[in-house]
Amino acid sequence: MVDFQADFAGKVAVVTGGTDGLGKHLTQTLIGLGATVYFCARRVELGQALVAECGPQARFVACDLADPRQARDFITQAGQGGAIDYLVNNAAIDPRIEFAQATDADFDRLMAINLRPFFSATHAALPYLKAGRGKAIVNICTTNYMLGLSPFTLYNASKSAVVGFTRSLARELGPLGIRANVLSPGWIMTDKQLRAHVTEEDKKQLLEAQALKFLLKEADVTPATLFLLSSAARGITGQNLVVDGGKVMY
Ligand SMILES: NC(=O)c1ccc[n+]([C@@H]2O[C@H](COP(=O)([O-])OP(=O)(O)OC[C@H]3O[C@@H](n4cnc5c(N)ncnc54)[C@H](OP(=O)(O)O)[C@@H]3O)[C@@H](O)[C@H]2O)c1
Repeated sequence: MVDFQADFAGKVAVVTGGTDGLGKHLTQTLIGLGATVYFCARRVELGQALVAECGPQARFVACDLADPRQARDFITQAGQGGAIDYLVNNAAIDPRIEFAQATDADFDRLMAINLRPFFSATHAALPYLKAGRGKAIVNICTTNYMLGLSPFTLYNASKSAVVGFTRSLARELGPLGIRANVLSPGWIMTDKQLRAHVTEEDKKQLLEAQALKFLLKEADVTPATLFLLSSAARGITGQNLVVDGGKVMY
């Protein structure tokens, strides 16, 4: 029923933060399915490495999304062919900041990277999405805010706002045939998470809390993102799909 190849071959997709973790796996997969993928990040060497690996369908643009002008310029480059079929707002940072230690600068930085680019990129992409054939947006969120985890007050303020943003966006863009959904991963064992954060005790607790008794990797999230982008989800908009091995159920 779901033929991802038929949907994505020859299409143009945009993935913010496509050089690492979930965004990298999604970018590689979309390219494998025949899409041209515009992706961005600040670290140029990671972007260049992915272009070297994936070839001309991989279109890297160095960009700091915290600067709205750079975010919009990135989208303009992606739209140079006249249309963007899919947009995945993925890039984010997840610093652990104790609330009592948090500063105004921390708050502004979280919103500038984790929230405002969802607006800037989507707004800049709108004329191209209208002209595109896929007409679907996926905004990457998290289950973290549902669980009220700490020390993530600022992170969760930025991420939970993505849900409200997406619901109203879905309502406004639906009449144009453009769908917008949220995908909320649980804790995914990316290289960075394993390197910087995940302990053996964390793994044990996660497996106890999940209904499914395996740790999730990027490859467990990508198919769900593809589904929401694909024509198989043509009747789905304004929704929040959780991919967490069955920890949060609501
Ligand atoms: N991994 C998890 O367990 C998990 C769980 C729940 C939700 N999520 C969500 O999933 C998404 C991806 O997370 P991830 O773990 O894959 O992250 P990641 O491995 O840290 O990758 C983040 C990507 O975003 C880019 N990026 C960050 N800040 C940027 C900026 N200011 N401008 C441009 N690009 C920027 C990074 O490249 P540069 O650093 O070079 O800019 C990188 O390509 C995020 O929205 C995150 O909140 C992840």
